[in-house]
Amino acid sequence: MSEIKTIGVLTSGGDAPGMNAAIRAVVRAGLNNGLKVKGIHRGYLGLIEEDISDMNTMSVSDIIHRGGTILNSSRCLEMMKPEGQKLAADNARKAGIDGIVVIGGDGSFKGAQRLSENGINTIAIPGTIDLDIACTEYTIGFDTAVNTAVEAIDKIRDTSASHERCSVIEVMGRTAGHIALWCGISSGADFSMAPERYDGDESKIIDKIINRRKVGKMHHIVINAEGCGDSYGLAERIEKATGIESRANIIGHMQRGGNPTARDRVYGSAFGAKAVDLLIAGMTNRVVAYKDGEFVDYDIDSALSMTKDVDQLLYELGNRLSR
Ligand code: F6P
Repeated sequence: MSEIKTIGVLTSGGDAPGMNAAIRAVVRAGLNNGLKVKGIHRGYLGLIEEDISDMNTMSVSDIIHRGGTILNSSRCLEMMKPEGQKLAADNARKAGIDGIVVIGGDGSFKGAQRLSENGINTIAIPGTIDLDIACTEYTIGFDTAVNTAVEAIDKIRDTSASHERCSVIEVMGRTAGHIALWCGISSGADFSMAPERYDGDESKIIDKIINRRKVGKMHHIVINAEGCGDSYGLAERIEKATGIESRANIIGHMQRGGNPTARDRVYGSAFGAKAVDLLIAGMTNRVVAYKDGEFVDYDIDSALSMTKDVDQLLYELGNRLSR
């Protein structure tokens, strides 16, 4: 067992609903184990700029249900440079912090690796709506983001149906199509695009819309993943090729907000508590994950070398059920 006495927690990169549940779990699990806990504000920037404050049990009271992150977040360019990484580690030591929990996506995991190399024990928690972290079957925020997007798509569908239009609806996901496929199945979309599968052949989408119109479908939903590209252009080309009035809607950042679902609160809590257990056990450069029904952990180096694909079954299912 290590001599960890004080831990810090930060959220980094794009925020995700459920991050507050993870922060709460880190703080409460830390305090319950007799540790001091410090909140590092605005991600790695808070380490570099020494924006750090003490946390107690009431600092995380009444936050489990809230979207966003009470610690704020940033994409910190300084943390990509060796000088920034060293300064961050030095400032952690200056603040008496022996171990840090980093909540974020795989970009943030790289910062965690560098902190670990610079002598600060660091554990990462997968927090991103994109579900694009290879070592884990779940990332905090995905469930809330999908449910938020589906609610928006349902509303767009109402007006699309009234006007007998085609709606191209773009969802987030960076270069991954997990959000798009879940939204496509949940909303019974005519076509769901995922960057992992998309070959640029728009004729498949256009033929599908024409065929469905022939069998009496009078409005159409195409779910585009942001990683596949321009939704406005696609809507224009669909209208030109089919003669069906088409509109593009980009749902955007509303997918990152809102009260986390129970699933995001529970996974956030479990990931947070496990991260503290790992720090107490003297571990560093690890990422907590959910795999095959269990909460587990991996070395960050090996986690970052893993690759992830969209689920082929889900990809086929959406398009199969909308014939
Ligand atoms: O990683 C989360 C995410 O919301 C992606 O889906 C999206 O591509 C990106 O962040 C947007 O980032 P920003 O908020 O910096 O524009």
